[in-house]
Amino acid sequence: MASDLAQTKQPVKVTITGAAGNIAYSLLWRVASGDVFGPDQPVDLTLLEIEPAAKAAEGTAMELSDSAMPLVRGITVTTDQRAGFEGANAAFLVGAKPRGKGESRADMLAANGKIFIEQGKAINAGAADDIRVLVVGNPANTNAYIAAKAAGDVPADRFNALMRLDHNRALSVLGQKLDAPTDAFERVVVWGNHADTQFPDLTYAQLEGADVMPKIDQAWYTDEFIPRVAKRGAEIIEVRGKSSAASAASAAVDHMRDWVQGTDGRWTTVALPSTGQYGVDEGLVFGFPVVGANGQWQVVEGLEISDFQRPRIDANVEALRSEAEVAAQLF
Ligand code: NAD
Ligand code: LMR
Repeated sequence: MASDLAQTKQPVKVTITGAAGNIAYSLLWRVASGDVFGPDQPVDLTLLEIEPAAKAAEGTAMELSDSAMPLVRGITVTTDQRAGFEGANAAFLVGAKPRGKGESRADMLAANGKIFIEQGKAINAGAADDIRVLVVGNPANTNAYIAAKAAGDVPADRFNALMRLDHNRALSVLGQKLDAPTDAFERVVVWGNHADTQFPDLTYAQLEGADVMPKIDQAWYTDEFIPRVAKRGAEIIEVRGKSSAASAASAAVDHMRDWVQGTDGRWTTVALPSTGQYGVDEGLVFGFPVVGANGQWQVVEGLEISDFQRPRIDANVEALRSEAEVAAQLF
């Protein structure tokens, strides 16, 4: 039975796009169960799809309804982009084409970019003032950049892109290497773009308060760890035959939960619009080390950047500048 508190609280309105797709099939149940907004917080869910997948989204909604989740106050399926974001407090922008074998995520910009212009405009028109938008659809950073540009009246910092999956992959590879649970690590960050150029950085990483770098050798770090994490998405596509879904949903849950509920001083990775930190062009949606508190992200500033780190960060600035030039043609 739902708690007394849950009986009295106003529901959070949550929009999930791509509701008939693979990621949403996992994400919806996690949001509905209280994993994101809390165990006492009811949710009102809007499942946004395009016409060809509307029937399948209805099927997903039927299953969600059959799950009898006590925090769920409403489930709406729509193909109307404007109606889909009306009054939304949180939106997971998942709906977009996944890449196939041999494609890069940037290749998806031509197919997917326009989706985020329309959805940015719809968010601008009707979302609640406290809207939080997490873009998952690829290329996630530039799609978030596009949506933020299209939603001129909404503060840009309400638009994030998902790089928590990369962060979680980094923790997992490191945990296996040092035989430690993932939550024993602190101060791991993945800089940049959710793309092969991303820089999973262990410079500041600690394991139970002790520096990680003396525990690993440089060759493993440079030649195995960094490329393993950066290319994990392609590895999943190769082995699974489809792009990651449950792990992506799990990372989206982690991201939105920490945005709403905070990180208790711990670092995580979030791609958010730069305000010029670490030499990243203002407006580019870039993966930074952050902490979450009071419903907001704070980029960890003032870190010393070495000659090993600088070119790896700059490669991501370059890549995102190029994607932004392509994106400008879509408006
Ligand atoms: P999927 O093909 O299973 O589902 C995508 C769904 O989006 C489809 O049902 C489609 O009809 C719908 N859709 C397309 N355009 C839409 C629109 N304008 N409005 C609403 N819905 C729309 O794909 P998936 O596996 O769920 O992946 C979705 C996206 O997430 C892909 O772009 C994928 O590359 C990306 N992804 C990102 C990360 C990340 O870490 N950022 C991780 C995994 C996947
Ligand atoms: C991932 O990192 O798993 C996703 O972005 C899917 C992909 O295209 O790699």
